[in-house]
Amino acid sequence: MKLEDIKRITVLGAGTMGAGIAQTCSQAGFKVTMMDLTEDLVKGGFGRIRTPLEKRVERGKMTQEQVEDIIGGIKGTTDLRGAVKGTHFVIEAVFEDMRVKKEVLETIDDVCPPEVVFASNTSSLSVTEMASVTSRPDRFLGMHFFNPAPVMRLIELIRGSETSDETVALGRELSMKLGKEPVEVLETPGFVVNRILVPMMNEAFNLLLEGAASPEDIDKAMKLGTNMPMGPFELADFTGLDVGLAVMEVLQRETGDPKFRPSPLLRQYVRAGRLGRKTGRGVYDYGSK
Ligand code: 3HC
Repeated sequence: MKLEDIKRITVLGAGTMGAGIAQTCSQAGFKVTMMDLTEDLVKGGFGRIRTPLEKRVERGKMTQEQVEDIIGGIKGTTDLRGAVKGTHFVIEAVFEDMRVKKEVLETIDDVCPPEVVFASNTSSLSVTEMASVTSRPDRFLGMHFFNPAPVMRLIELIRGSETSDETVALGRELSMKLGKEPVEVLETPGFVVNRILVPMMNEAFNLLLEGAASPEDIDKAMKLGTNMPMGPFELADFTGLDVGLAVMEVLQRETGDPKFRPSPLLRQYVRAGRLGRKTGRGVYDYGSK
């Protein structure tokens, strides 16, 4: 598969990342299919795309016509096998669970012609393991987008043990066509960004547990002291505390290094359903969802 052969991209998953990736692909001129399990989840994905775009229209940064073009370029579906019909490139952004991902990939592998390339937006799981359930481990790579996908400029390109040079080159070209800067990373737990960023957020929970400072002051210190746009708790609430905990667990399990121990406070918040903005409460309270 060559970049110029890619006309339609299928994005599996219409959650925060799936919807953001679908929007990014549509904005770059690709026809997009966005798939999730239920009509409500697909509808939720379109809502996630429309709301920030409508805000841009209100601020005079975009026309209504441009918004409709972006959304009109995305076809929603709940049919997994149907979603990959006639597609040239698949980006998997389903729930971050190896078992779920393998099941989805195995199903679509049967339906997709061999030249179709598969990418996973996993934030820390093994690309090699996912690719192993398909008939195309050489045409399989990780393409890790960052939230919000239409805005953040980085894509980490993850090379699994069987990923071919051609597939990495295609991932690089596609990333650039999407207006992003690719960085190539060998498969390693957490890749580059999450290996550094998530332990930083985890350490903020440890500081809070020790009573060192208030959440507001920890955020303020990091924003004013390092020019981060969001403090660690604002960012954890934005990306999801469950997502952060899952990354810490992968880092701990895969490396066996105790320095990656998830903070007990992070774990407790997740157990309480305090997952961040998406549930209306994380470290901070956002009122009703
Ligand atoms: N689609 C299109 N445009 C969008 C958008 C969307 N979904 N969301 C925001 N924007 C645009 C806005 O319209 C605005 O554009 P403008 O400058 O032309 O007016 C611009 O982005 C900035 O947005 P806002 O003005 O609403 O808000 P802020 O200036 O406060 O920026 C932010 C918001 C971009 C989220 C900024 O706070 C930020 O960069 N935060 C850090 C995000 C981050 O670190 N993400 C990575 C998380 S880690 C991760 O994702 C990995 C995972 O595996 C855990």
